[in-house]
Amino acid sequence: MSRSSPRPYRGTKDPSLRRSLALFRAFLREQDEPERCYSLLARDAVDQVEAYGGAVEGRTVVDVGGGGGYFTEEFRRRGAHAYLFEPDVRELGAEPPEDAVVADGYLLPLGGGVADVTFSSNVLEHVADPQTFLSELVRVTRPGGLIYVSFTNWYSPWGGHEWAPWHYLGAERARARYRRRTGRPAKHTLGENLFAVHIGPTLRQVRARDDVTVVSARSRYWPFLAETVVKAPGIREFATWNLLLILRRCPP
Ligand SMILES: C[S@@+](CC[C@H](N)C(=O)[O-])C[C@H]1O[C@@H](n2cnc3c(N)ncnc32)[C@H](O)[C@@H]1O
Repeated sequence: MSRSSPRPYRGTKDPSLRRSLALFRAFLREQDEPERCYSLLARDAVDQVEAYGGAVEGRTVVDVGGGGGYFTEEFRRRGAHAYLFEPDVRELGAEPPEDAVVADGYLLPLGGGVADVTFSSNVLEHVADPQTFLSELVRVTRPGGLIYVSFTNWYSPWGGHEWAPWHYLGAERARARYRRRTGRPAKHTLGENLFAVHIGPTLRQVRARDDVTVVSARSRYWPFLAETVVKAPGIREFATWNLLLILRRCPP
């Protein structure tokens, strides 16, 4: 891959207002400067992985639904053996990482327990069966290994993706409005490639599993009270924006 190497990242404290503002500003310019936006997001996410699981250098990392490979590239930059699995060749883009594999996250072409870190950023809300998807992430992670899963929940202000925040008035109405405003069809259709995933049920389901422990359940981007906000039933569905789960695979 011949993407230019971004300037060295001096990660800001997480959570902090400075960090959240930097991510938000980059996100606002995502359409014009996708490279800058996703490189920053990738550096930030790998910082988070290292904060919970230690340096990734020398570790085997599996990036599931990794799109164009920004996260895989960042893991590699830090010395990890990182592998990208992405089912949609259009998402891979023109410059996917070397050795990227076209594969579905429900059925990864990997043996059990091969990964030290299994990573999935903003994929869970795009699969129809999040629990089966999670089970596959768990299967490929070694006992003691870390699983990083984040997703934008449905009642998040960004839950409707490109048609947010109008999803609060209903998905169909929001999609129609998007088409009227932009003159092009929306990328996402509820029930096809975007699903209403909620924080409360997801937390209950992962906590009920006997093959993982929950190391952290927090807001991925929020500048303060990142774990506290997730503990408030009801409010968390709106206020978390994006749930980050750090799970540890239990011994068999
Ligand atoms: C919003 S993009 C996220 C890309 C990247 N991980 C990121 O955080 O920027 C959602 C990705 O999930 C992928 N995806 C959808 N269904 C999937 C599945 N069953 N298994 C693996 N990836 C899937 C899509 O192809 C897409 O690349």
